[in-house]
Amino acid sequence: MIELRAPSVIVNFKVYGEVEGEGALRLARICSEVAEESGVSIAVCPPMVELSLVARELDIPVLSQNVHPRKPGSGTGYTTPSAVKASGAYGTLINHSENRQPAESVGECVSMCKSLDLCACVCAESVDKAKELAAFSPRMIAVEPPELIGGDVSVTTANPRIVTDTVDAVRSVDPRIEVLCGAGVKTGEDVKTAVDLGAKGVLLASGVVKAKDPETILRDLIKYI
Ligand code: G3P
Repeated sequence: MIELRAPSVIVNFKVYGEVEGEGALRLARICSEVAEESGVSIAVCPPMVELSLVARELDIPVLSQNVHPRKPGSGTGYTTPSAVKASGAYGTLINHSENRQPAESVGECVSMCKSLDLCACVCAESVDKAKELAAFSPRMIAVEPPELIGGDVSVTTANPRIVTDTVDAVRSVDPRIEVLCGAGVKTGEDVKTAVDLGAKGVLLASGVVKAKDPETILRDLIKYI
């Protein structure tokens, strides 16, 4: 399986209409081809119902959009880390702004992911929350101010300080954690600024998923890294 390495570009497909059914594999294939040609590390987070299909079809790191701290067994409607691993996925987002979990539950998810060798990318809405969740030592923490998510102004322009402060705060807890940033990231300049601010990559969605021509947007996004 292809490893994700910094600077990482993680494309979260969310549950946009564009990626329902065949749309998920189509977009993931574009991401995979651009990653292969450019050598830039790109991962995808397809809608949950397409996770296994994308992970099995393509040689690109695939992340689940969420997991719950549950073991295999009774638990209708939950997504276990173990099932994510079995699907062929590389890792998972945890605690996304649109699907928050209590800190304790985030910690359990991270520890289950570690024991399964799944990459855990924990989302946080603030410097303080990122610092708190860094105590669980996930592989990655993505800081995303909720008010900028889905908008046209990148976190790197609207609030560069949250990126630098999160990098410092997380480093003070565990310097091995890779800090990513996200929300409103849409251009190559945004990605370059993120890296210049100390981020090890970006987590983004609408700029690619809702684009008329995702391939062109993706090429623009990675042009400076
Ligand atoms: O998971 C990525 C995300 O929440 C940011 O979304 O649309 O602002 O890139 P977007």
